[in-house]
Amino acid sequence: MNFNVEKIRKDFPILHREVYNKPLVYLDNAATTQKPVQVTEEMNRVYETINSNIHRGVHYLSDMCTGEYEKAREKVARFINAASTNEVIFTSGTTGSVNTVAFSFGETFVSEGDEIIISALEHHSNIVPWQMLCERKKAVLKVIPVNGNGELLMDEYEKLIGPKTRLVAVAHVSNAIGTRNPVERIIEISHNHDVPVLIDGAQSIQHEKIDVQKLDADFFAFSGHKVYGPTGTGVLYGKEEWLEKMTPYQGGGEMISSVSFEKSTYNRLPFKFEAGTPNFAGAIGLAAALDYIDNTGIGNIAEYEKDLTDYAVSKLSQTENLKLIGTPAHRTSVISFLLENIHPYDAGMVIDKMGVAVRTGSHCAEPLMGFFGIRGTIRASLAFYNTRKEIDVLHNAILKVKEMFR
Ligand code: ALA
Repeated sequence: MNFNVEKIRKDFPILHREVYNKPLVYLDNAATTQKPVQVTEEMNRVYETINSNIHRGVHYLSDMCTGEYEKAREKVARFINAASTNEVIFTSGTTGSVNTVAFSFGETFVSEGDEIIISALEHHSNIVPWQMLCERKKAVLKVIPVNGNGELLMDEYEKLIGPKTRLVAVAHVSNAIGTRNPVERIIEISHNHDVPVLIDGAQSIQHEKIDVQKLDADFFAFSGHKVYGPTGTGVLYGKEEWLEKMTPYQGGGEMISSVSFEKSTYNRLPFKFEAGTPNFAGAIGLAAALDYIDNTGIGNIAEYEKDLTDYAVSKLSQTENLKLIGTPAHRTSVISFLLENIHPYDAGMVIDKMGVAVRTGSHCAEPLMGFFGIRGTIRASLAFYNTRKEIDVLHNAILKVKEMFR
């Protein structure tokens, strides 16, 4: 494996700070990832040298900035292997992307009595927009159930999908317990019924190669800040055949072709879905993050992270009175657990004081926590800059929690 974690860590200044006089061990990467200097310097460069509103001005800076924004779109298209830049819409994040589809697809294609399928593993951001759509349209939300390991019951999915299904929306990887869903099979089954699929890629884009054409996903949503890029950035990939037909989500400047008080006409793709001044500095920063991943090699990242995740799962699962929540056969970089008789919040507080950042709570997946009969978990989520030594620090912190609450 051509991968040097110590060299990579040098690019992330925050990893070298201390908290409570202890070296920071950052294991909350599913919530947000840290940024390499290549991203922060790129964004500073934009603000310090070319900042200007895009697609609007005739002046030099506007032209430069527009060019770089559109280059960022080309970068994203290449990174996910979209067939065209028309299929790449910049959004504020995965939530913005899912809401765009829920509204625009919903307004265009969903009527009373129609059905939308999601799964029991979803983050609230891939539940609530569909509930809102179903309420608006008097449509019905169906949910693919999971087994005790936290894996989707595919036989049940095949029973749910039918002539009334208009769209299937599922997570690629569960943010709460790390299950890597069989999205390839989900898409295949769905397409056999002529039903499009949205993949929530918030927790997969940073861990495995995404090729939207190979996957044959109709929509793919992800956030910039979870893939080492800036906050407030995100992408909605959509097949042109769907996006062309969908009504815009928001109205405003840039998304129009002409406006009069009688009627407005809409701009061509992808601008039809980008009302208002976009986060151009963010989009350019996101492209720098994707370049960073390309230079490191997503294959190297995946291999390294798998080894690290296996090490962490093995170490934690051998810990007395520690129960893993979610034991899927295919897991990506997220490990959720509970310590017997200790509230996750109390455990999280002690772990924090040892310098280790983990997340505790429901992880915006209350229905999944309800399925397991719990209120929440302690969650460690790994990135390619984490090390086995850091997993050992987490393990020691867990032993400390157990000692304190004995
Ligand atoms: N969706 C983010 C998480 O899982 C915030 O932590």
